[in-house]
Amino acid sequence: MVDYSKFLADRTKYMKASEIRELLKLAEQGNVISFAGGLPDPATFPKEKLSKIAARVIEEQGDMALQYGPTLGVTQFRNILKQFMRRNNVKVNDNDDVIVTTGSQESLYLIGKVFVDPGDYVLVEAPTYLAALNVFRQFGAKFASAPVDENGMKVDVLEERAKKLIKEGARIKLIYTIPTCQNPSGVTMSRERRKHLLELAEELDLLVVEDDPYSFFSFKPVDAEPLKTMDKSGRVIYLSTLSKILSPGMRIGWTLANSEIIRSLELAKQAVDLHTPNLTQYIAMEAIKEGVIDEGIERAKKLYKEKRDIMLEALEKYFPEGSSWTRPIGGLFIFAYLPKGIDTKKLLPEAVKRGVAYVPGQSFFAEGGGENTLRLNFSYPPIDLIEEGIKRLGNFFKEVLNK
Ligand SMILES: Cc1ncc(COP(=O)(O)O)c(C=O)c1O
Repeated sequence: MVDYSKFLADRTKYMKASEIRELLKLAEQGNVISFAGGLPDPATFPKEKLSKIAARVIEEQGDMALQYGPTLGVTQFRNILKQFMRRNNVKVNDNDDVIVTTGSQESLYLIGKVFVDPGDYVLVEAPTYLAALNVFRQFGAKFASAPVDENGMKVDVLEERAKKLIKEGARIKLIYTIPTCQNPSGVTMSRERRKHLLELAEELDLLVVEDDPYSFFSFKPVDAEPLKTMDKSGRVIYLSTLSKILSPGMRIGWTLANSEIIRSLELAKQAVDLHTPNLTQYIAMEAIKEGVIDEGIERAKKLYKEKRDIMLEALEKYFPEGSSWTRPIGGLFIFAYLPKGIDTKKLLPEAVKRGVAYVPGQSFFAEGGGENTLRLNFSYPPIDLIEEGIKRLGNFFKEVLNK
């Protein structure tokens, strides 16, 4: 027998399997109503339109679309993405550039690869997107976090922590934030806090990674511009994706930043996958040009708003006294806080047995805590099962609390 483990590179020590993912495999069975994933509702996929576009792209542009392409992405598509961002209030500067990535997850990976040395600090929200933490962890990052409230990250807490760390000799490189309809908390950062965050980045000479998959379909206007738009000194690296507004299976994301940064990401990407599939870039380009995405966003907004409202109402009705939850203006998630003492990770297997699944909140906290929290996804579960799922969950938590 070969001992494969002795061949593994040292850096694999930073990679760990998600125990929650294992638990949630159970949730895929039979009668479980799952609020666990982060998937769009497949009803929002414009299947007929995409199948026509795909056939046409292969017939008419197949020589290019089926060929290798540039690492930065299809040039025409990158220009369309710039227009798309401008229409959505994201400022594109003359010295900015765009790289198309294989989902924005790859953007995060490339950013980790290019900027994070072992021991470097990344400042994050508590809670924040787990797969971003995992990327930065793989490069040996340390984290300092600041809690969120209904106005997003508490930047004053972040400031205090960052300044203390710097005094102690720590090297901080990045602030990673999802300012609008955050994953997992659903909250949106206020304009004042955005301003404060940018001032802090300026004062401490840091880069800001603005991860923005959700602002395209907030249910009411966001009362603030993207950080990228408010930024005056070129510190913001903006990432977004078509995963939630067209299709996650197409794996199209992108990064917009100063062209020097994009050049570094391009070099890193060459070694990862040469380029993002040309075929999906061509299809996505036509979908944007024909308005398929804009139409889809409007339909998704209506559907998700309805689902969110049903979930909020059910939480009010069934969740135990002493719990609270966020009221997102968009995105895919509600984050709930149960009375202290409840451990949502421990309770998950029993919840699944009772036919309902969620993601325990703990793993979204880079520095621990959050044992009494959970993330609830409202975009994917069928509309007529949301109330029943929250009822099962609320009754279960009440039972645990009354023991
Ligand atoms: C905040 C955030 N960033 C990045 C991603 C990755 O998305 P994708 O790689 O599909 O573009 C997600 C997906 O859920 C997300 O919620």
